[in-house]
Amino acid sequence: MEKGKHVAPTDDKEMNVGVSTMNKVSAIFVLGPPGSGKSTQSRLIAEQFGLFHISAGDILRAEVESGSEDSIMIKAKIANGKLVPSDFMTRLLLRDIQKSGKKKFVIDGFPRSMDNLNALSSTAIETEFVLHLVCSKEVAIERLSNRNEGRDDDNIKTIVKRFECFESVFPVLECYEFKGKVYKIDAEKSKEGVMQDIKSAFTMHPRLCS
Ligand code: C5P
Ligand code: MG
Repeated sequence: MEKGKHVAPTDDKEMNVGVSTMNKVSAIFVLGPPGSGKSTQSRLIAEQFGLFHISAGDILRAEVESGSEDSIMIKAKIANGKLVPSDFMTRLLLRDIQKSGKKKFVIDGFPRSMDNLNALSSTAIETEFVLHLVCSKEVAIERLSNRNEGRDDDNIKTIVKRFECFESVFPVLECYEFKGKVYKIDAEKSKEGVMQDIKSAFTMHPRLCS
């Protein structure tokens, strides 16, 4: 393990989630390529450290399932491995954050572009630190091909596009690295091995370990 503007949702009285209307909350972000285990590890982190888990991808898939008016747009983006607009993604995240009533979160799959990061900076979400799950393309593709989660985007054509899109996260990681907020985790280890390294990162943030 190594240590290393967009406008807030507007015109959204129903969700009422802009920076001025929400008290500060804190988040640990889990980033990494498709198949690196972001959601799996985030679930374990939530259990272990009592944080509330939110997965950007899961939120979008739930929106598609709900058949909301945005579901066609979201479905097309997911099928092409592309990102939905950042203000839209942020609004959904803030909606779930508010709905939970919690203060401390582990969020996976966000912010994964500079545009996502700019949208995040307009919110009341403070970044505690970032876990960068490092995993080679070969291992990730092997995992994605075998995981059978019933996801439409776990097909090789979309997987290739998702990897291309993943590159937009690198400047985000650089920004966080500059602030000393990134922990690089070897995500090719076993699930338990990865969790062990993640726990070491948490020991440096005692108030999150309660
Ligand atoms: O993180 P996960 O692999 O579950 O994301 C699935 C898809 O959801 C991504 O390939 C992308 O199309 C969409 N997504 C997005 N913006 C994010 C996170 C995910 O558009 N911040
Ligand atoms: Mg996931």
